[in-house]
Amino acid sequence: MRLVGKSALITGAARGIGLAFAKAYLAEGAEVAIADINLAAATQAAAGLGPRAHAIALDVTRQDSIDAGFAEAIARMGKLDILINNAALFSAAPIVDISRADHEGLVAVYCATKAAVISLTQSAGLDLIRHGINVNAIAPGVVDGEHWDGVDAFFARYEGKAPGQKKREVGAAVPFGRMGTAEDLNGMAIFLATPEAKYIVAQCFGVDGGNWMA
Ligand SMILES: NC(=O)c1ccc[n+]([C@@H]2O[C@H](COP(=O)([O-])OP(=O)(O)OC[C@H]3O[C@@H](n4cnc5c(N)ncnc54)[C@H](O)[C@@H]3O)[C@@H](O)[C@H]2O)c1
Repeated sequence: MRLVGKSALITGAARGIGLAFAKAYLAEGAEVAIADINLAAATQAAAGLGPRAHAIALDVTRQDSIDAGFAEAIARMGKLDILINNAALFSAAPIVDISRADHEGLVAVYCATKAAVISLTQSAGLDLIRHGINVNAIAPGVVDGEHWDGVDAFFARYEGKAPGQKKREVGAAVPFGRMGTAEDLNGMAIFLATPEAKYIVAQCFGVDGGNWMA
């Protein structure tokens, strides 16, 4: 119960990694806003998680939606201590097929957006720590789930692989011996929100079974 009394908002928490974080934070005693562009899915996810779980509609690509979602979360929880900026989409194409439209939102230039997240973590972390706001990032490796079902379908289409083949290949290539699960990231997500991590500032942590080193 390391997060008792804390309120957290997690974007993209209706499924996958965000939902695993929400469940882990609830288990540690926090109150959690499960914020997602898909309110129906967020509502379904929050159902059964108890009165400390709140489904919130929030589209991270629209400022008016961000403002409204944060206002609703603060109104329902009374305050906000922790933000997990988790939402993203995977969409990709061979580089010669990327169109101008793909650059809108968080979408097709997926790897570039992740590099931007690391850079923003450093800038925001350096800027905000003086206000007592700490910013760090988690870089997962390959995490099984619906997200990776889409990645697998992408490789099936563009590399002619059988469905499931890419997943098996990337899992076998992870030094740990398998793809990650969303729950594999929970320890770092909890730790970074506790006072034990207060002197860790503007860092990005790989939680990837050794994948990056390989
Ligand atoms: N799964 C992996 O292997 C992996 C690896 C590295 C990083 N990541 C990153 O981790 C995060 C979560 O990944 P995941 O596998 O759980 O993804 P996922 O696709 O399973 O879930 C993403 C969630 O974000 C929501 N969402 C999409 N667009 C949104 C928007 N504009 N505003 C608010 N919510 C929105 C979706 O409705 C969905 O519930 C993403 O940033 C992803 O890029 C995932």
